[in-house]
Amino acid sequence: MSRREWKTGEIEYLFLNGDIVPYEKAVIHIFTPAYRYGAMVFEGIRGYWNEEIKDMYLFRVAEHCKRFNQSLKMMRMDIEIKEEEMVNNLADLVKKNEIHQTVHFIYSAYVDGDGPMSSRGPIGTAITVRKTGSTYDVENGIRCSVSNWRRNADDSCPMRIKAAANYQNSRLALLQAKQDGYDSTIFLNHNGKVSEGPGACLFIVREGRLITPPVTSDILEGVTRDTIIRLSEEMFNNPAIERPIDRSELYIAEEIFFCGSGAEIVPIVNVDGFAVNNEKPGEITRQLIKVYHEVVTGKTPDHAAWRTAVYA
Ligand SMILES: Cc1ncc(COP(=O)(O)O)c(C=O)c1O
Repeated sequence: MSRREWKTGEIEYLFLNGDIVPYEKAVIHIFTPAYRYGAMVFEGIRGYWNEEIKDMYLFRVAEHCKRFNQSLKMMRMDIEIKEEEMVNNLADLVKKNEIHQTVHFIYSAYVDGDGPMSSRGPIGTAITVRKTGSTYDVENGIRCSVSNWRRNADDSCPMRIKAAANYQNSRLALLQAKQDGYDSTIFLNHNGKVSEGPGACLFIVREGRLITPPVTSDILEGVTRDTIIRLSEEMFNNPAIERPIDRSELYIAEEIFFCGSGAEIVPIVNVDGFAVNNEKPGEITRQLIKVYHEVVTGKTPDHAAWRTAVYA
């Protein structure tokens, strides 16, 4: 397969180690610990295009930057990224590519060089960008299994670290689910409690109340999860609660959805063959999707501090 065929989303330029480089030049060596051992941490960040004001809003960069630095720290990768630097690098990449639509970035740091497994540097940084909305069927919802693969445990491969290597656990489960005819899958952790999806956090609704697993359930501490908790406080009488969720609650929940920067808010309409809300996205999920989109695209003045304009 030629490099040209790898090209996704008509992106001309990417960011590598401080420079904006043509797509074809954004390559790293097969000898790097990043390639050999998966020594890479990243953030998936969105930029939302607002057609009315002809600008793009980067969403909650401060929170992504904080989590990125936490991942770097836990993986003993000795660099720190400032929020301003992250914003500038994302904005420069958008401007160089002259992008005027919604995008998804992967902002990453990796162990470069040709050192051994214990190598801690040099640390490289890279940013990819794709012109894309949610990869899921947000309109109609998706069908999930409960995976028989368990979520990585905090005492082996903590999901709190957003490390590329963690996604082997996600891939095993997701590929099995697809093989079995599902759209995606839901992980239990080693305590048998609901954890999250392969690339998204999870909420259920019971008795009209939003519930999500606590941050100690072997999940990534999602920025979107936090956004939904915050929005639900404003929107509903009963704000979201964080508590362990049993597998069997998935079979009787009134509504279920995944949420993440890349996935956005995705209704889950069937779990293991049990219909959720007659296989239709539920009312609370639909209200959240609407308000979330108004907030991320800046169609409401609310939560302006979560948005950073690129072109303004
Ligand atoms: C494993 C996993 N959990 C949860 C999430 C949701 O996190 P966020 O809302 O910060 O994007 C993601 C998204 O990238 C993820 O990969």
